[in-house]
Amino acid sequence: MPLHLVDHPLAHDALATLRDKTTTPEHFRRAATRISVLLIAEALKDLTSQSVTVQTPLGPAPGRTAGSDVVVVPVLRAGLGMLDAVLELVPSARVGHIGLQRDEMTAVASQYYSKLPAKLGESYVLMIDPMLATGGSAVAALDLLQRSGAKVIRMICIVAAPEGVALVEKHHPEVAIYTPVVDEKLNDHKYIVPGLGDFGDRLYGTI
Ligand code: PRP
Ligand code: URA
Repeated sequence: MPLHLVDHPLAHDALATLRDKTTTPEHFRRAATRISVLLIAEALKDLTSQSVTVQTPLGPAPGRTAGSDVVVVPVLRAGLGMLDAVLELVPSARVGHIGLQRDEMTAVASQYYSKLPAKLGESYVLMIDPMLATGGSAVAALDLLQRSGAKVIRMICIVAAPEGVALVEKHHPEVAIYTPVVDEKLNDHKYIVPGLGDFGDRLYGTI
């Protein structure tokens, strides 16, 4: 399944704000929503739709409404920074949560929470997590989604590292990854370089 590089000028504009170390949590949150709207619109480009007729003040007009069930699953906590964008575009989406935390020393992710909607097999499942670094968190979340019945899964991230993309492709070749950028590498602490630092800390001001 190909990696989808979302090469939109407005996505890069928001990404520059997210990368800038002087960006405050307030502006960081807004940029996260801006970029997420663009990524999610691209990831749902093939969403099925139904034909409808609506009455404008001047008469009937043909239209289309989104026809598929969408489930969005933010990986806590950083993934919450992308959730508003999905709900803005797909207000009817059902929301699951997966809590994963990387150990600060080993960078190995462990799960502390999960609550997922039923009937995932009939839905477009969007897993949202802004950082794909080693890929350990993504593979753990994707494993859980598949065990829970999800069949069509797309992963949306904001910055990816080559190591993370390779790990997801190895364990979940059927999952499409949408990202505006694949950065150079991971550093010794398994942070993405140049990256943007710790997304969750910058989103919530917990640095
Ligand atoms: C971050 C990020 C991913 C993970 C990526 O979460 O949101 O979930 O790291 O790293 P990986 O690809 O090496 O697994 P973190 O564990 O820092 O938790 P947080 O969102 O609660 O800050
Ligand atoms: N998690 C982050 O928030 N940033 C990184 O660079 C890697 C993991």
